[in-house]
Amino acid sequence: MNLPFVSREQLVVGVDIGSHSVKICELKKTDKGYQIVALGSAVLPEGAVDDGTLVEPEAVGEVIAGLFKNLKVKNKKVGFSISGYSVIVKKVNLAVMGEKELEDYIMQEAEQYIPFDISDVYLDFQDLKTNTEKNDRTDVMLVAAKKEIVDDYLEMLKSINLQPAIVDVDGFALENTYETVYEKSENVALVDIGASKMNINILSEGISVVARDIVVGSRQLTEQIQGAFDLEYEEAEALKLGQTPAEDRQEEMEDIFSSTCTQWVLEIKKAIDLYHSNNPDKPLTRLVLSGGGCKVVGLSDFLESETSIPVEIFNPFSNMNYNKKKIDAGYIERIGPEMAIASGIAIRPTVI
Ligand SMILES: Nc1ncnc2c1ncn2[C@@H]1O[C@H](COP(=O)(O)OP(=O)(O)OP(=O)(O)O)[C@@H](O)[C@H]1O
Ligand SMILES: [Mg+2]
Repeated sequence: MNLPFVSREQLVVGVDIGSHSVKICELKKTDKGYQIVALGSAVLPEGAVDDGTLVEPEAVGEVIAGLFKNLKVKNKKVGFSISGYSVIVKKVNLAVMGEKELEDYIMQEAEQYIPFDISDVYLDFQDLKTNTEKNDRTDVMLVAAKKEIVDDYLEMLKSINLQPAIVDVDGFALENTYETVYEKSENVALVDIGASKMNINILSEGISVVARDIVVGSRQLTEQIQGAFDLEYEEAEALKLGQTPAEDRQEEMEDIFSSTCTQWVLEIKKAIDLYHSNNPDKPLTRLVLSGGGCKVVGLSDFLESETSIPVEIFNPFSNMNYNKKKIDAGYIERIGPEMAIASGIAIRPTVI
């Protein structure tokens, strides 16, 4: 969704509000490609964001305002993205129409495709132009987002003097970053594993053909560790991240990691199988992982052995320039996978 008050040349600051942390990314377009201006993340209080909903807008606002201040970001124009139950993305196959005719059709007929009351949602669509000489029908991507939820985000951002200009969807932002960094023509599965959800987006020749959010993520590991050893959430998180040595808990920890990762891999395989059964002649050439959850040691090797498809960890900044005196190269390497959505929002206006 492109709100009207931002010019196409101007880049917004990408703000990815996850359930574990807020990530912000500011980029600049130069003759040599994108340049990183500012980058950072901050952990949110427990439960402040849940299933894509702002449960504690004030607390989230404070964290975001703090990040802007610490990183000295002056640009007030921001983009954010939504996910979870409040947003429905649906591909519909329609007869080819002109832009205005398509818009009228969607406004009139959206109700049959979207399980929400149309007056309760913001609607957007994109003609994917999949029609060919032999086929006069085209796929149109419909997006419906609950006004109530989107308005909460808009209000929260305005309350800290930011100017929201773009509302994106997590899966689209991920696709956007990928297409900027890699070749568009590949058949690839993008998998973002966050704290509470896994977003799978399979692209075939540059078009999203399977898109789903699944309610699994790295928080599952923390909660299981917490339960197994009777710990506070933060203690379990530190143990999970290896900040506290596992010692005699090692074996039980390995069991927790292995059963949870097996579940993640099964979910990914289900989406891949669905894709391959619909597209037997277009095999996937790689799986690209992002989000903090993909950093679980051994996950990418396990996924690769289970699917026989090369797996790589996404670094959206691999081809971007930055001031090496201001931003540490190691930090960019470490934070890259978590930044896949924020960077996708940050490049949005120039590619729409
Ligand atoms: N090395 C690691 N091993 C396991 N988990 C990790 C590692 N590093 C970070 N994480 C986990 O990744 C999660 C944070 O990732 P991310 O920032 O992508 O989530 P989020 O965007 O806030 O959540 P979501 O998108 O699910 O709402 C946390 O649960 C964190 O513990
Ligand atoms: Mg996330």
